[in-house]
Amino acid sequence: VRKIGILTSGGDAPGMNAAIRAVTRVALANGIEVVGIRDGYRGLVEGTFEAYSKTSVSDILDRGGTKLGSARLPEFKDPEVQEMAVNQLKANGIEAIVVIGGDGSYRGAQALTKLGINCIGIPGTIDNDIPGTDFTIGFDTALRTCVDAVDKLRDTSSSHHRCSVVEVMGNRCGDLAVYTAVSCGAEIVVSPETGYDELDILEKLRYLDTAVHKNHAIVIISEKITDADGLARKISQNTGFSGRATVLGHIQRGGSPSPTDRILASRMGEKAVDLLMNDIGGHCVGIIDNKIISMPIDEALNRPKASRKHLYRLFDRLI
Ligand code: F6P
Repeated sequence: VRKIGILTSGGDAPGMNAAIRAVTRVALANGIEVVGIRDGYRGLVEGTFEAYSKTSVSDILDRGGTKLGSARLPEFKDPEVQEMAVNQLKANGIEAIVVIGGDGSYRGAQALTKLGINCIGIPGTIDNDIPGTDFTIGFDTALRTCVDAVDKLRDTSSSHHRCSVVEVMGNRCGDLAVYTAVSCGAEIVVSPETGYDELDILEKLRYLDTAVHKNHAIVIISEKITDADGLARKISQNTGFSGRATVLGHIQRGGSPSPTDRILASRMGEKAVDLLMNDIGGHCVGIIDNKIISMPIDEALNRPKASRKHLYRLFDRLI
């Protein structure tokens, strides 16, 4: 392979820049030209390309967000739009692409591979919701942000006999919620994996207040499960705690990537280039049992997400 492109797609995640840097530097060191593609699949279709040198990726290792910009482009499912992208790539001599993003981005990568452009997917999202890997780039940093926020909320809720309901992101995956809950010693965790049972939550809180004499409580809930403000109001009305809701929101997507994310992104970027140099396309990179692996995107998308049952069990035992 003589020339590759790189793009980031879907929600940005801390560590994406570290992956861009690793792909660029490993490729250049092997005599492969690198082109940065702006704003995900949109830039691919529109041909917004920039030739990258070693210094194009200087000073980004420690930066959150993505230097390349990102976008969601649902229209990329359309074969005509895919054809436009292939034409842009051929016109610019780009033979292969590394796509950093979530499972939607993987599907685009798979489609392009079928059209003759070898693509490799790298999992980049704070949600940790991509099959075929134990961890995604950005999850560790987002988890640190959540833990930092909940530790602070505990200080204030314990001073006022309050119950803090803290909503974390995750896009229908409970990993951010359960990892935060275990890390912070929360009293209750509610995620897509646990389901939402309001009466049970209120009952537990009444028990913690009246029988255990807790002076505060923390409830971690995944986004898209219930309205955090509504739940906090019900807690105030039905338990001895005064309920307060905090929705952490997009703050979870920002910030300097943790060392773990920087290393993960660098290792995955290196692996993606190695695969392309071996003429492999349609694969995604992952980390399983701390080993960097790759597998066909089809296979990854059909695998169940790694189970976190052990963490939920541990959480219950630690209360
Ligand atoms: O996939 C990352 C994520 O932050 C999810 O956790 C969340 O559901 C979604 O993106 C929010 O999307 P947007 O930034 O488009 O509001």
